[in-house]
Amino acid sequence: MSKGALALLIHGGTDNWSPERWTARFRAVCHDRPILLPPEAKRDPAKVHYAAVWKPSPGDLACFPNLKVIFNLGAGVDALMADKTLPNVPLVRVAVGDLTGRMTEYVVLHVLMHHRQELYLRDQQRSKRWVPKFQWPASAISVGIMGLGTLGADAADVLGRIGFRVAGWSRSKKQVDGVACFHGDGQLDAFLRRTAILVCLLPLTSETRHILNRDLFAKLKRDGPLGAPVLINAGRGGLQNEADILGCLDDGTLGAASLDVFAQEPLPVDSPFWTHPKVVLTPHNAADTDPDEISKYVARQIENFEAGGVLDNVVDRARGY
Ligand code: NAP
Ligand code: GLV
Repeated sequence: MSKGALALLIHGGTDNWSPERWTARFRAVCHDRPILLPPEAKRDPAKVHYAAVWKPSPGDLACFPNLKVIFNLGAGVDALMADKTLPNVPLVRVAVGDLTGRMTEYVVLHVLMHHRQELYLRDQQRSKRWVPKFQWPASAISVGIMGLGTLGADAADVLGRIGFRVAGWSRSKKQVDGVACFHGDGQLDAFLRRTAILVCLLPLTSETRHILNRDLFAKLKRDGPLGAPVLINAGRGGLQNEADILGCLDDGTLGAASLDVFAQEPLPVDSPFWTHPKVVLTPHNAADTDPDEISKYVARQIENFEAGGVLDNVVDRARGY
């Protein structure tokens, strides 16, 4: 009997999301399981038992009557949660060491960049000015991570080992060695008060949308060595109020920002973020999903599921992440 097919629905456009590249990887690791791209997948939808997706269009998954599992090819599932017709089958997200390590690299790079005053130093270099500023040790800087999940906990661990004073904020209560843990709305202000570099690794849900706004920035710590606090957002663009970020950078409520994600992606060419002197911008590639790693992760999960095993990293639909 032939195996249930896997439909690959990828909203491509960038190098990493080339459907051809993903198809080749899935064919290599799924052996005799048919890997179908649209429109082939939709010609015989009853054959499709699994879907591996990245930002499919709303309604795309509803046409498969025998779907058993949806695999999101990234960590964040906000695009899928917005689809009111999403079939009620387990939704698995990516939580693997490869992606986690990439995000930790991004977070460490940007925390160090602001801590070591790189924006100032590059500006001095361009102007050929030899004006050193005192460099404080990491132990003088408080970093606060919003979201102490798979990604936040790993970044917190590495930042702590470099010597930063690290705190984290989550929805539920947590205990993480070396990290001052805060949780829930009731402890948010205390977390912000001690945070000079704010790293956001939250999922985008109805509770977190636009949480990064002027009110929140105004509560951050401003009496440390850096002076004005710094924002680093690699979660989702929908977490941030972009007009507030620009206003706060301009009036000094924020000293600088590293932004990997935006409300509209690709970022429009006329966005003021492109040229803002206090912004370090990256095109949503803080932590890429590697097709080699993730096709194997999905193939392993399908084999285990068909052998009666439990799926890993299933999204809690009620929480939205
Ligand atoms: P995760 O393991 O699900 O962790 C999410 C964390 O956020 C958890 O600690 C959770 O609290 C906390 N949280 C959720 N809602 C909250 C709320 N209302 N108040 C306080 N804390 C809340 O997710 P992850 O794997 O770390 O990924 C996080 C996000 O990173 C993804 O959703 C995605 O949007 C983003 N991401 C971006 C890139 C990129 O390249 N820019 C790459 C990968 C992922 P609990 O621990 O109490 O549940
Ligand atoms: C990337 O943004 C992801 O969610 O994996």
